[in-house]
Amino acid sequence: MDRFRGQVAFITGGASGIGLGLARALAAEGMRIALADVRADELRRAVGGLAAEGVSALAVDLNVVDRDAWAAAADRVERELGPVRVLCSNAGVNLVGSTESATFEDWDFCLGVNLGGAINAVRTFAPRLIALGAGGHIVITASVSGLFTSGGAGCYVTSKFALVGLAESLRADLAPHGIGVSVLCPGPVKSDLFESTVAVRPQALAATGSVSVTPPGVRREDTPIFATALGGEEVGRQVVRGIRRNDLYILTHPEIRPVLEARAAALLASLPDEPVDARRVAATQALLDASLYVREAAKPPPR
Ligand SMILES: NC(=O)c1ccc[n+]([C@@H]2O[C@H](COP(=O)([O-])OP(=O)(O)OC[C@H]3O[C@@H](n4cnc5c(N)ncnc54)[C@H](O)[C@@H]3O)[C@@H](O)[C@H]2O)c1
Repeated sequence: MDRFRGQVAFITGGASGIGLGLARALAAEGMRIALADVRADELRRAVGGLAAEGVSALAVDLNVVDRDAWAAAADRVERELGPVRVLCSNAGVNLVGSTESATFEDWDFCLGVNLGGAINAVRTFAPRLIALGAGGHIVITASVSGLFTSGGAGCYVTSKFALVGLAESLRADLAPHGIGVSVLCPGPVKSDLFESTVAVRPQALAATGSVSVTPPGVRREDTPIFATALGGEEVGRQVVRGIRRNDLYILTHPEIRPVLEARAAALLASLPDEPVDARRVAATQALLDASLYVREAAKPPPR
C-alpha cells in the first residue's frame, strides 16, 4: 500500500508509546486516525495532544478483549471517518516473571489481551477490508520477544510468538485479496507499558504471580534499557516504510542479529541427520512452500 492520504487508520493501544507514535507517523502521511484504547483518560490526553499538533484523531473507547464492542467500534469509525484501510493491532500488556511461576490468571490476562485482542481485531477488520476490495494493510505489534527469548517472561513471550504466527498466516491468506500484513517486532521503546499493564489489569485476573513493574526503588527512566530505547515516533516512521514496502517483518534493532542467527542455527542443527525422502517432499509440497519467506529474504534491506 503506498497511498495513505485521506485514508483511515485504526490503531489499538493508541493512548501512549508505540501506538501514539504510529498515529503521528500515519497522520504525517495524511491519514485520518481512529485511536482506540481502554484507558479513557490517557486516550483523551493523547487525542488532545495530537489536536494541539494539528492532527485530528477520533477517540475510540475500546477494550480489545471485548468481542461485542469491536463491531460497534468499527461501525462507528466507518460512519464518522470512512472505511478503514490500515489496521494497527498494537494494544498489549507485559508480564515479567519465570514461566513456571505464572498463574492461570497471568496466562489468561496476558494471552487474552495480547493474542485475543489481535484475533478480535483481525476477525473484525479482515472481512471488512476484503469486502471493500481496495487493498489495505494490517500491522500486528509483536516484539523481539516473538522471535527469541532469554527467559523470565514466559506469558509475554508465548503471546508474542503466537502473534508472529498469526501475522505470517494472515499474510499468506490475505495476499490474494491485495491486503498486506506486517508484524512489528520492536526492541526496547520508550512507553507506558509497565504502568499501563498495572492500570488495565482486571480484578478478576488480579496479580498473583508474574509482575509488571521495575524492581522497587528503581526509576524506570534510570535503567540503561530505557535510556537507550527508541521513541514511538521513530518506530512509527519505520512502520510507514514497512507498509509502503509491504514488509513481512518490521524490525527496529540491528543489535538482535546474533540472537536471530543463533536461533536459526539451532533449528537447522536439530534436523535429523538422514537423507531427505523425495516421496515425503512430494506428498507435503504445499506445506513446504517457502515463497512467503524467500520473497522477503530477496528484498534489499530497509534504509
Ligand atoms: N515498549 C517496548 O519496549 C515494546 C517492545 C516490543 C513490543 N512492544 C509492544 O508494543 C505494544 C504497545 O506497547 P507500548 O510499549 O507502546 O506500551 P504503552 O503502555 O505505551 O501502550 C500500550 C497501550 O495498550 C493499551 N491497552 C492495554 N490493554 C488494553 C486493552 N485490553 N484494550 C485496549 N487497550 C489496551 C494500554 O492502555 C496502552 O495505552 C504492545 O503490544 C507491546 O507488547 C513494546
